[in-house]
Amino acid sequence: MTLLIFLRRKLSLTGTKLGCAEGGCGACTVMVSRFNPHHNQIIHHAVNACLAPLCSLHHCAVTTVEGIGSVASKLHPVQERIAKAHGSQCGFCTPGIVMSMYALLRNSPQPSMQDMEEAFQGNLCRCTGYRPILEGYKTFAKEGGCCRSRRKGNGCCLTSAHEEEHVTSTHSGQQLFDPSEFMPLDPTQEIIFPPELISLGKQPPRSLRFIGERVLWIQPSSLNELLELKAVYPAAKLVVGNTEVGIEMKFKNLLYPVILAPAYIQELSSIQYTENGIEFGASVTLTMLGKKLHEEVNKLPNYRTEVFQAILEQLRWFAGQQIRNVAAIGGNIMTASPISDLNPVFMAAGCKLTLTSKEGKRALQMDDKFFSGYRKTALKPEEILLSIEIPYTKKGQYFSAFKQSTRKEDDIATITCGMNVVFQQGSNIVKDIKLSYGGIAPTTVLATATSFFELMEDACSSLAEEMTLSPSAPGGMVTYRRTLAISLFFKFYLTVQHKLHLSVEDVKPNYASAIELFHVDSPTSVQLYQAVPPGQSTDDMVGRPIMHLSALKQATGEAVYCDDIPQYENGLYLALVTSTKAHAYIKSIETDDAMAVPGVVTFVSAKDLPGSNKTGPAVCDETVFADNKVTCVGHIVGAIVADTQAHAQTAAKAVKISYEEIQPVIITIQDAITNQSFYQPVRTIEKGDLAKGFHESDNILEGEIHIGGQDHFYLETNCTLAVPQGEDGEMELFVSTQSASKTQALVAKALGVPASHIVCRVKRMGGGFGGKESRSTILSTVVAVAAHKVKRPVRCMLDRDEDMLVSGGRHPFFGRYKVGFKKNGKVMALDVTYYSNVGNSMDLSLSIMERALFHMDNCYNIPHIRGTGYMCKTNLPSNTAFRGFGGPQGMMVSESWISDVALCCGVPAEQVREINLYKQGEYTPFNQCLDQFTIDRCWKECVNISDFHQRKARVEQHRWTKRGLSIVPTKFGISFTAIFLNQAGALVHLYTDGSVLLTHGGTEMGQGLHTKMIQVASKTLGIPTSKIHISETSTNTVPNTSPTAASASSDLNGMAVYNACQTLLQRLDPYKARNPKGSWEDWVKAAYFDRVNLSANGFYRTPDLGYDFETNSGHPFNYFSYGVAVSEVEIDCLTGSHKNLHTSIVMDVGKSLNPALDIGQVEGAFMQGVGLFTLEELRYSPQGYLYTRGPGMYKIPAFGDIPTELKVSLLRDAPNEKAIFSSKAVGEPPLFLAASVFYAIKDAITAARAESGLSGPFRLDSPATPERIRNACEDKFTKLCPPPEPGTYTPWDVRV
Ligand SMILES: Cc1cc2nc3c(=O)[nH]c(=O)nc-3n(C[C@H](O)[C@H](O)[C@H](O)COP(=O)(O)OP(=O)(O)OC[C@H]3O[C@@H](n4cnc5c(N)ncnc54)[C@H](O)[C@@H]3O)c2cc1C
Ligand code: FES
Ligand code: FES
Repeated sequence: MTLLIFLRRKLSLTGTKLGCAEGGCGACTVMVSRFNPHHNQIIHHAVNACLAPLCSLHHCAVTTVEGIGSVASKLHPVQERIAKAHGSQCGFCTPGIVMSMYALLRNSPQPSMQDMEEAFQGNLCRCTGYRPILEGYKTFAKEGGCCRSRRKGNGCCLTSAHEEEHVTSTHSGQQLFDPSEFMPLDPTQEIIFPPELISLGKQPPRSLRFIGERVLWIQPSSLNELLELKAVYPAAKLVVGNTEVGIEMKFKNLLYPVILAPAYIQELSSIQYTENGIEFGASVTLTMLGKKLHEEVNKLPNYRTEVFQAILEQLRWFAGQQIRNVAAIGGNIMTASPISDLNPVFMAAGCKLTLTSKEGKRALQMDDKFFSGYRKTALKPEEILLSIEIPYTKKGQYFSAFKQSTRKEDDIATITCGMNVVFQQGSNIVKDIKLSYGGIAPTTVLATATSFFELMEDACSSLAEEMTLSPSAPGGMVTYRRTLAISLFFKFYLTVQHKLHLSVEDVKPNYASAIELFHVDSPTSVQLYQAVPPGQSTDDMVGRPIMHLSALKQATGEAVYCDDIPQYENGLYLALVTSTKAHAYIKSIETDDAMAVPGVVTFVSAKDLPGSNKTGPAVCDETVFADNKVTCVGHIVGAIVADTQAHAQTAAKAVKISYEEIQPVIITIQDAITNQSFYQPVRTIEKGDLAKGFHESDNILEGEIHIGGQDHFYLETNCTLAVPQGEDGEMELFVSTQSASKTQALVAKALGVPASHIVCRVKRMGGGFGGKESRSTILSTVVAVAAHKVKRPVRCMLDRDEDMLVSGGRHPFFGRYKVGFKKNGKVMALDVTYYSNVGNSMDLSLSIMERALFHMDNCYNIPHIRGTGYMCKTNLPSNTAFRGFGGPQGMMVSESWISDVALCCGVPAEQVREINLYKQGEYTPFNQCLDQFTIDRCWKECVNISDFHQRKARVEQHRWTKRGLSIVPTKFGISFTAIFLNQAGALVHLYTDGSVLLTHGGTEMGQGLHTKMIQVASKTLGIPTSKIHISETSTNTVPNTSPTAASASSDLNGMAVYNACQTLLQRLDPYKARNPKGSWEDWVKAAYFDRVNLSANGFYRTPDLGYDFETNSGHPFNYFSYGVAVSEVEIDCLTGSHKNLHTSIVMDVGKSLNPALDIGQVEGAFMQGVGLFTLEELRYSPQGYLYTRGPGMYKIPAFGDIPTELKVSLLRDAPNEKAIFSSKAVGEPPLFLAASVFYAIKDAITAARAESGLSGPFRLDSPATPERIRNACEDKFTKLCPPPEPGTYTPWDVRV
């Protein structure tokens, strides 16, 4: 059992969250403290509770988020500051981030910014964009957030030209939060380490045995005992950090019946100096290793510590701190992973290993013979690794290590390597060279005693020959990996040349950037917004940056999410059984083995539905449970219900399904085009005369772009608790969903009862982003059917891998275009075709395609235009809504042709954009007039605050690093394109004590909707926000709600709340008139005694909406939101990595209801877009199996990915008369602005290609991953690694 399960299920301490169960998100972070008797010291570490075996915590103190403070008693400063700095939106990541910060402060009460950045490497947040978290916590830092001159080139942030940038400022000089309000940190007030654990720790160690259902865990007390046990149980696993074994048991279905835990054996944890280096015991953690090497690097001359420095550089990018705190060196070596970060370094450095067994010790050189095969070593079964000696380096010896990964922080390597060269004394003749690579195959390349420098070209060619990879190699990226192997060697070559520059010519100045290590500066930021006018009443909270009203509870772990609801005494757990085939008939389902698992109650399948098995949010074209046939991998076939989650999951894995495969299996958009596999209708929007437009053009270009999909990666996965009420088929559902009413309706349909018998309740979600708009109903329906069958409460919170597998994501799009334009870049005609990969059911795909078409023009006026949209029917899980809802894909294609036009005309892209921009009063391709048009204002302000022109003039170009700059506008239509959804209801109760209970149709998923609705009610009723409470969203208070989506929830629900409050005010008016000096409470009481109804509902429907595709007339949108962003990046042409150096955003949000929440939405959406366009890649096998099913393989942006400088400005003086209190929608529109980063990267690649004599348009698909960037920067190294001929092999993965 893991610590996390124990905390949540046995102790009901639900503040610690489950986000991934694989150590990759940090939501489960707690602090583990232990006494080290050898150093007489208490050690505090942030640890992932999801991987920490409970048995490993003997004599440890565990501090959870509940232990450090609470809203009811006293907040801890780390909880207060993240909340008040607006660093908590949905709050699901917040307890983990709080605990990472807390553990850091326990070890270092005044940390540096660098300490802080390191502490957060293992924490993810999907909502905030990280900036506000850092901003709040900078107040703890030694520098108070100052960069301490670590910013390259620009000097210190406090003294640079951008002096204001280290503070959060506003147009009117106010701040989004006031640090002077913060409680001071007083380290003397922290909880002390229990003294009894110190006395226990001083006693001689005792051996321990824990006997579980399936595993025997033994903690021996001495090395001898360990060796005896290893002789008795040679197959036993030694577990130290459990960061490998834990993953294998959870995700690879491996079972190790005997585990030996050597954590307390001193010989394995010792660090000793030897003649040649330092010997580390195998159980020494990576944090300890780093600390020791750091000390040595600071103490010894540089030439002695070349290997140590290389290891430190590898450790910098090795997992997150929670993992490094527990993971051991021995675990890394013995896992023998081909992508281990340390093994290539140890091999190239020639480290010596000491092995031991009952028979005695033996030493072994760590060379290529040590790893005898995939995940195999030269150790005998009864042997263990005792220690590793890491050598000092000598004069004339140079050593480097490199790790290249998709995301720089906390990512497994694409390629990792150690490179060691020894020169003959006083010469540049090579005596010995060892290059060791991980990620290709463990290989050592040796060059003979010749000049390293003359042989550079030969070495590259021979490396290219040796580093062959099968085109089908697992992991894919074959061309990239081969190119990287050579490029990294080139970096090493330049590094050595530079170090030797006294005996060899130094590296050319414009090559020097190739040898710089990839380090990013600490981020700085500015937020600008319009403060409320001086005369505004202090009770009127509209327009003020008030904190998310649940933020404090979220920071203390008291906020209740669906899976935090206490289990019912007779409650059961459910686990899904899903298809492993993409397209097949189900021949049989065998459940005997599953039913034999202890605690299993039943297997639920299509046979158990009392109502209809047909389901779907728009059209009922899918099944609750697959019946007879599966149409994707991950199709739900059935479910196991058991007494615990572990039993349910074990049993679910034991269900055997046999299939008969059906052809064709359609996975990719290209497959669908070939097979003409499309859903109907095919939509078209056309305006003008295309033939005329092309005729009037000077140039005509054709191009293509593929835009990959995206997983929502809400930190809280889908969760449902279904509670049968015992009579009339009534059922109460607690669900993490954006669509309470849709859940109610589909559950009622499946159970065959009227909707009135089902209540769906939503307290809050740990993020939604569209992923819980319709796909959440699939799980809810399954759980409800199971609860109905067993007549007991049933719950299921999906594991991350299941959630990613079954729930679909953003639609991948393929755009094909023909664009006609004048010489100056003015676009005259555009014919564009979109293909979206819809998956195995329609879901919301038609509306998504329609929105893509509505955004095919982005902000550009194209006189003659036609857009056509095809929805591809494929054997993938159904794709669905995701922030932007097709809009970003639609606009991304438009920026692609803009970029092509600019490259073709040789005109800067910003110029092409500017001459094509719409003007006030012009009409879109769907004939909607652009009134209240603010793009021109956003553009000017953004150029200004970003110093665009100066920045452009400043860009210096080096041969191997290139900077790129781009400015991108966005226009986003606000309204559901399904007209009937543009309605909302609210219900407001006044109680006799004057308190107000507000309910509306929207759900809270972190966006701050409830906070905004309370602001609206407070202003309308004229009472403080403290009198108004929102408890939840439920179908029995406000019925027939639209999903909380389309960015329109504040607009719609805000007006409904306003409407209800107005009704109540009118009812109170007579009592106010009678008692004008009375209080709110007096008026409410007086009305009550006068028998006035103090409950009112409100309703709103957006007027004047309706669009007809046949006639291309009517208004699809109520209004548009606008924004512009400028981004600057730097790419490393040799590795494909990039740094986000600067982003400025100007966003028109009308008259902001709450600038803190709106800026939070802008930054959060922007960072999600950065993920979409530069990082996140869903990778499928050609058979439709999703490989990327967790944070280990699927990389969302982390703390280190935010732009070094980030400026966000809300456009001032831009009231919007079409929405509540002149505000505007903000949830989705800013996401597309991240395309500015993509096109800045494209700009940088253009410069790199120019070095190789390449010019003109080139295709760059999204996301711009390191692989795509490197492959696009064609040079002499890429030429050595030509891509395999398509069609001659089966690739490991396909682009869907
Ligand atoms: C989120 C996450 C991120 C990660 N990131 C990285 C990364 O960036 N780079 C990287 O290289 N790895 C990474 N890993 C892998 C893993 O963390 C490392 O390999 C780590 O060093 C394993 O150490 P451990 O103590 O946790 O191993 P455990 O899981 O405890 O053990 C691993 C294996 O080693 C064996 N073993 C341990 N000690 C001995 C011994 N003394 N003698 C014989 N056998 C022994 C065990 O029997 C077991 O087979 C990551 C893992 C996770 C979960
Ligand atoms: S739940 Fe433990 S790291 Fe994600
Ligand atoms: S606030 Fe961080 S994941 Fe939602």
